[in-house]
Amino acid sequence: MKTPKRIVPLVEDGVVDEVLRQLMSGKEATVYVVRCGDEIRCAKVYKEAAKRSFKQAVEYQEGRRGRNSRRQRAMDKRSKYGRKQQEEAWQNAEVDALYKLERAGVRVPKPFGCFDGVLLMELVTTDDGEVAARLNDVVLTREQALEDHAVMMGYVVKMLCAGLVHGDLSEFNVLVDDYGPVIIDLPQAVDAAANNHAKSMLERDVNNMTAYYGLSAPELLTTRFAEEIWALYEAGDLHPETELTGQFDDDGGIADVDGVLMEIQAAIKEEEERLARINTADES
Ligand SMILES: Nc1ncnc2c1ncn2[C@@H]1O[C@H](COP(=O)(O)OP(=O)(O)OP(=O)(O)O)[C@@H](O)[C@H]1O
Ligand SMILES: [Mg+2]
Repeated sequence: MKTPKRIVPLVEDGVVDEVLRQLMSGKEATVYVVRCGDEIRCAKVYKEAAKRSFKQAVEYQEGRRGRNSRRQRAMDKRSKYGRKQQEEAWQNAEVDALYKLERAGVRVPKPFGCFDGVLLMELVTTDDGEVAARLNDVVLTREQALEDHAVMMGYVVKMLCAGLVHGDLSEFNVLVDDYGPVIIDLPQAVDAAANNHAKSMLERDVNNMTAYYGLSAPELLTTRFAEEIWALYEAGDLHPETELTGQFDDDGGIADVDGVLMEIQAAIKEEEERLARINTADES
């Protein structure tokens, strides 16, 4: 097909040889199938800021500071330079997240860089070459749903251990190939430690996935993975290989209070004994 305007610089630079077809035009981006040498890849062209929707919302931007203060001041001032910086930060956020997650052992499309606002990545396909379906178009057996849900919870844990919360995880942003789920669409990913909304976003992500897999395996609907994961994370006890149970005890907090009360009582008792010893010593 005729090379779309935004991909022309990539063809001129030789990173893309040919644009084969348009795959999808979403709210945030248009996705093309391209050829790079003898490899078929996927090119995601971001729409301009004005055409993008909720993912630009302030709660996603929190904690996403520019790498140097001059850039941050420009972003804050929303000058023309600032808008350009913000635009680049947004575009680079997805490729940065893909590299990070690939290293963390989460299945995502393999990234090949972001050039002039165009993300080049692996085209996720089935073994016979068909573009992978989105999870919402896949019919799952109960067993597959349970297995894939467990895999997905493992990815959420690895992501959080790498410092990220997806922020828009749902059956529409997961592809399914012959080996299971692959997570896509990460420009809005948030920094778990720096963003005050990280907990609620993680809960929404986990609950979206559980509700979807729960359609095929209803026993998932009573699990409490989100709370379990966040409690372990906050306590510093979450590791990439943590085995989850899906159970979470609301009484956890009360048990802690009991523990503190017991310690206070023990301290009072110790003090009473100390005073008693002093009194006995005085009397003798
Ligand atoms: N690496 C890939 N391999 C195969 N298909 C892909 C890949 N990346 C994206 N797609 C397809 O393109 C669609 C849009 O991609 P993506 O979700 O990243 O962009 P988006 O514009 O943010 O989408 P939306 O606004 O609809 O969520 C996906 O739903 C998927 O069908
Ligand atoms: Mg999407």
